[in-house]
Amino acid sequence: MKLNLKKTLVTKMFLGLVTLAFLSSCINDQSYKKYNDTVDIPVNQEMIAELTSPPNVPTPIGKRMAKKLIVDLEILEKEGEMTGGVKYVYWTFGGTVPGSFIRTRVGDEVEFHLKNHPDNKLPHNIDLHAVNGPGGGAESSFVAPGHEKVFSFKVLNPGLYVYHCATAPVGMHIANGMYGLILVEPEGGLSPVDKEYYIMQGDFYTEGNYGDRGVQPFDMQKAIDEKPDYVVFNGSVGAMTGDNAITAKVGETVRLFVGNGGPNLVSSFHVIGEIFDKVHVEGGDLINENVQTTLIPAGGAAIVEFRVDVPGTFILVDHSIFRAFNKGALAMLKVEGEKNKTIYSGEIRDGIYLPEGGAIQSMPKDNGKSEEIKAVGLEEKMKFGKDIYASTCLACHQATGAGIEGAFPPLAKSDYLNADVDRAIDIVLHGKTGEITVNGKKYNSVMTAQALSDEEVSNVLTYVYNSWGNSKKEVTPEMVKAVRNK
Ligand code: CU
Repeated sequence: MKLNLKKTLVTKMFLGLVTLAFLSSCINDQSYKKYNDTVDIPVNQEMIAELTSPPNVPTPIGKRMAKKLIVDLEILEKEGEMTGGVKYVYWTFGGTVPGSFIRTRVGDEVEFHLKNHPDNKLPHNIDLHAVNGPGGGAESSFVAPGHEKVFSFKVLNPGLYVYHCATAPVGMHIANGMYGLILVEPEGGLSPVDKEYYIMQGDFYTEGNYGDRGVQPFDMQKAIDEKPDYVVFNGSVGAMTGDNAITAKVGETVRLFVGNGGPNLVSSFHVIGEIFDKVHVEGGDLINENVQTTLIPAGGAAIVEFRVDVPGTFILVDHSIFRAFNKGALAMLKVEGEKNKTIYSGEIRDGIYLPEGGAIQSMPKDNGKSEEIKAVGLEEKMKFGKDIYASTCLACHQATGAGIEGAFPPLAKSDYLNADVDRAIDIVLHGKTGEITVNGKKYNSVMTAQALSDEEVSNVLTYVYNSWGNSKKEVTPEMVKAVRNK
C-alpha cells in the first residue's frame, strides 16, 4: 500500500514535469515565432525619419512597409526659460524638452545618427528603451562635442518607449532634460484618431526655490533627495497652457502619447473632466478601458485615448496635486464646439481650476544681458569671471566648486589646480580626457575645449583661483595668449 502510494506520487510528479516541459516548450516556441516573424520582416527601401518637437508627433505610419529608417538627432545644450524670469540650461535631444518624437514600426531597421553640436560642453549618448541590445544603444553612441556616432537596430517590439541620455552622472543628464519618446507602431499602424499629441513629464532641481529669478543651476543634492522645485510637462511651466494649449473639436478622438522622463518621480496622469476610453498600459499591448488616472513610471510611458464630448478647457495634471498647482505639472486641452447639455449641463464655467494655478502665472521677462567689455582691476575680473563660470563651468563643477564625486573633479581647494596655472589654462583652452587625481581622488571624465577669448579665460580662471580657498593667483590675458600660442 505504502509502496503503491509512493509509486503513484512519483508517477504523478513525472507526468507533471513532462507536462510542464511540454507547456514551456510550447510557450518558448510561440515567443520565438513572434520574434522570428519580426526579425525577418524584409526591408527594401530607405527613408529619413520625420522628427517633431513636442507637442506634435510625426505622421502615422499607416500601411507603410518596414524600411531602413534614418534618424538624425542632434544634441543641443541651450538656455531656456523654466518660468517667467527663471532661466535654466537645458541639455536636449533636438533642441527641445522632451526631445524630438521618433515614429517607427515593427520591422524597421533604424540607422541612428547621434550628433553632438560643437558648441556643446559635454559628451552624451542615448539609451532607447525600444532597442534590444546593450545599454539600449548607449554603449555605441557615446559622442563628444563636434562628433557624430552611428549605430543601427531592428525594431522588434511594438509600443511607446522612452529614450534618454545615459552618460555619467546619468541622473544629472536626465534631470537637465535629456529624454524623449520613440513610438513603435504594430504592423498596419495604430487605429486612426483625429488628434495626436506628445506630452512628457519631468522633474527639475534648481539651487533657488520655485520662481527664484535668474539662471538657476542644477542642484545635485535636491535631486538625490528627490525634492524637485519644478515638476512640468514639456520642459517648462506653462509649456502647454494658454496660447500653447493643445486643441480638439467636440466629437473628435484624441490620442496622447504620454511619457515620464523623471528622473525621480512617478506620474499620476489625469485629465480633469475626461475619462480615458482606452489606455495602453505602460505603453505596451495591454489595453485598459474607462480609466480616470494612469500611473506612468519614471522611464515609462502610456498611450491614452478619449473622445471629447463637450467644449471647454480640460486641465491635464499629475494628480499628486501639489505638483500641478505649485510646481508646474499642469497643461491644457482646449475643446471647441457645440455644447451637449445632456452630457454636461454647463453650469460650471470654463477655467474654474485656474484661480488655484499659481504655477502658471507669468512674470515680467528679464532681458538684461551685459555687453562684453574688458575687465579693469581684480574686482571686475572676479565679477565677469563669475558670470562666465555660471554659464560655462557650473553645470559640472557646481556653484561651490565642489564638483561631483566620481564624475567632475572639484575646483575648490584643488591641489591639481593650484599646482600649475599654465596647465589649468591649457585645459580650459584645449579640454582634457583621461585619468587625473585631485585631492587624492581619481577622476576619469571628459572636459571639452571651451570656446572662450583670452580675456574670458583670464577672468574665469582668476575667479576660480580667488574663490573657495584656492591660491589667489591672478591670470592675465597675456598668460592665456602665451599658452594658446605654445
Ligand atoms: Cu547627456
